[in-house]
Amino acid sequence: MISACAPGKIILFGEHAVVYNRPALAVPVNGLKACVHIEPSPGDLDGTIWINAPALGLRKSINAMAVDNPLAQSCRLTLELLQKRTFPSFEITIKSSIPTASGMGSGAAVTIAIIRAVARYFDSMIADKDVNNIAFEVEKIYHGTPSGIDNTVITYNRPVFFIRDITMEPFSIKQPFNLLIADTGVHSPTAEAVTRVRESWEQDRDKFEKLFDCIGDITTSARAALANGNMDELGLLMEKNQKLLEALGVSAPENNRLIKTALDAGALGAKISGAGLGGNVIVLTQKPHNPQLKIALMEAGAAACYLTEVSP
Ligand code: MEV
Repeated sequence: MISACAPGKIILFGEHAVVYNRPALAVPVNGLKACVHIEPSPGDLDGTIWINAPALGLRKSINAMAVDNPLAQSCRLTLELLQKRTFPSFEITIKSSIPTASGMGSGAAVTIAIIRAVARYFDSMIADKDVNNIAFEVEKIYHGTPSGIDNTVITYNRPVFFIRDITMEPFSIKQPFNLLIADTGVHSPTAEAVTRVRESWEQDRDKFEKLFDCIGDITTSARAALANGNMDELGLLMEKNQKLLEALGVSAPENNRLIKTALDAGALGAKISGAGLGGNVIVLTQKPHNPQLKIALMEAGAAACYLTEVSP
């Protein structure tokens, strides 16, 4: 059996503004993974590719899936790149511990695990750049105008300072720090959130361009705070970024409640991570981590809380 896995991700700063070419910072979350296993489909030689996702109750041949199905498209684009047209049938099984529709890049992680597993199955290697390009194409199916940050941080599996079409560079983190990822339990519809921001931007470009500029400046300052290990400053910048996300209209009451709870319980900072309208909030905790924070978030209605360490 051939396998490949890809991590989840969180955006630390700059979501939404990154779609409009402002910088963003994102890190992989290696404690959560999407894994793909591939096995030949015995006795079945007609080149059928089966997709089996037990958690979704799905087992279907990709030919029976819509042309723009992201799982099917991940396979097709990979086979096209590898120039594989005829082969005995095989079955792709997908298992993921990354919560779906929560801003943690579960779609991109599944795509990237499929691309790498299919390449391995055919004894081939696909360069990271090409993995990233295919994953970007598939991200467009998920939500129309992606910035590319999700597929990039997951493909390269390292912290990235990202500006769409301009740069993708590692950034330095002076000291490891803890984040609590708290799930509102409300599905975060990335396409809807991105569309909502676009519609507002179209109605008042001056206002929204200024908001994006402010988020971009905060992201740049956050990069410096991370490089200097200034956690108090980082927390304040998270709060500022959150206020701007609220002004963009992507912070749901459930996000606001968890953020307020975290700050009241002594967190250094808290904000949405990802598209918003639900999904996850990230909370900067002191080191050593204060266990009361998780209790307070669960009592305030978090569906789950996950502690992760962000390290260089
Ligand atoms: C989604 O994880 C992040 C957004 O900025 C959209 C994107 O960058 O494509 C909301």
